[in-house]
Amino acid sequence: MTASATKGVAPNKNHFRTVTTTKDKPELEEGSVLVKNAVFSLDPYILHDFSKGNKESSVTGFGIGKIVDSKNPTFPVGSTFFGPVRWESYSVLTQDQGLSESVNLDAGLDKDDSLSVYNGVLGLSGFTVWDSLKRRGDLKKGETIYISSAAGTLGQLAGQLAKRQGLRVIGSAGSDDKVAYLKNVLGFDAAFNYKTQDRRQALTELAPQGLDIYYDMGFDDTVEIALALLNPHSRIISVGVLAMHQGQELVAPKNMIHILMKQLRYEGYVVYEYYDQWEDFWKEMTLLVKNGEIKFAETVVEGGIDVVAETYDRFMQGGYKGKVSVKFADL
Ligand SMILES: NC(=O)c1ccc[n+]([C@@H]2O[C@H](COP(=O)([O-])OP(=O)(O)OC[C@H]3O[C@@H](n4cnc5c(N)ncnc54)[C@H](OP(=O)(O)O)[C@@H]3O)[C@@H](O)[C@H]2O)c1
Repeated sequence: MTASATKGVAPNKNHFRTVTTTKDKPELEEGSVLVKNAVFSLDPYILHDFSKGNKESSVTGFGIGKIVDSKNPTFPVGSTFFGPVRWESYSVLTQDQGLSESVNLDAGLDKDDSLSVYNGVLGLSGFTVWDSLKRRGDLKKGETIYISSAAGTLGQLAGQLAKRQGLRVIGSAGSDDKVAYLKNVLGFDAAFNYKTQDRRQALTELAPQGLDIYYDMGFDDTVEIALALLNPHSRIISVGVLAMHQGQELVAPKNMIHILMKQLRYEGYVVYEYYDQWEDFWKEMTLLVKNGEIKFAETVVEGGIDVVAETYDRFMQGGYKGKVSVKFADL
């Protein structure tokens, strides 16, 4: 499957095209593998990769598959694979092209698990939240954290992990149904619909003591509101750029002076530098997910290539809670 982006236009299904090619089974180089792709993770950044121009190219995202041929001892034939693949039936991966960011799931895999959890709460998204909160959060009992896109894949976990450490958790999401889910299922202390409510007013009412942490997934003008409402010595953890994925122009906050005056910490986090912590993450999170202490919403859409563009469209319009995956094949 290929895609192309149009500058200033939110990604939609018309940006995708299915291409059929038939190739012989390749001879693998030393260190490379052949993967049969089964479940693709839909992620907001996918179309962002094309925003440099309107060029059409293969869609690449994270996916789960089975190793069907291998010249790499870390990924023997038959093992279950998680890593960056093109949206195609079979992918060849080398160390330089994808394998260094891939994981052999058999080590952590339980037969009862749905594979798609490794796209979400037990995958890169879950790891990002777990690690970024530890590294950048400096979480303290009694503090108030605000999480944007809180009913999304990262947001739903961020709220629960902060809650477990005794913080007061406020989230925002784009529908009343998602807001109810945050409060009634995930146990957020407060939540609001950022599409129908004034964000500044809602946050002022819901956090009368001010904010101590803003876990930012949007990189939009919410940062400006947060800067105004953050307490002295508090922090912003900048993790996502959903506004940019939506084709919006990025605008710098006008009140950056708060960083100086309130001695704030405004730090970015990018997961790719921290894979060495993956084993510790699994040890801790697999248990919490299995015994139901961490809850998560996810949707696995059947129908493969025929439905993926439409599903992506709906996903970007906020049509789902939590992780969205598309199943292309059985393993
Ligand atoms: N820094 C890292 O290392 C790292 C790692 C993984 C992911 N990320 C980034 O983290 C962000 C969140 O990822 P995710 O997988 O958890 O996505 P997500 O929240 O599951 O996916 C998209 C959701 O975002 C919401 N949304 C759309 N536009 C929005 C906007 N302008 N402002 C706020 N929410 C909006 C929609 O829900 P609503 O109905 O609520 O609008 C939609 O359902 C993405 O930017 C992703 O690229 C960063």
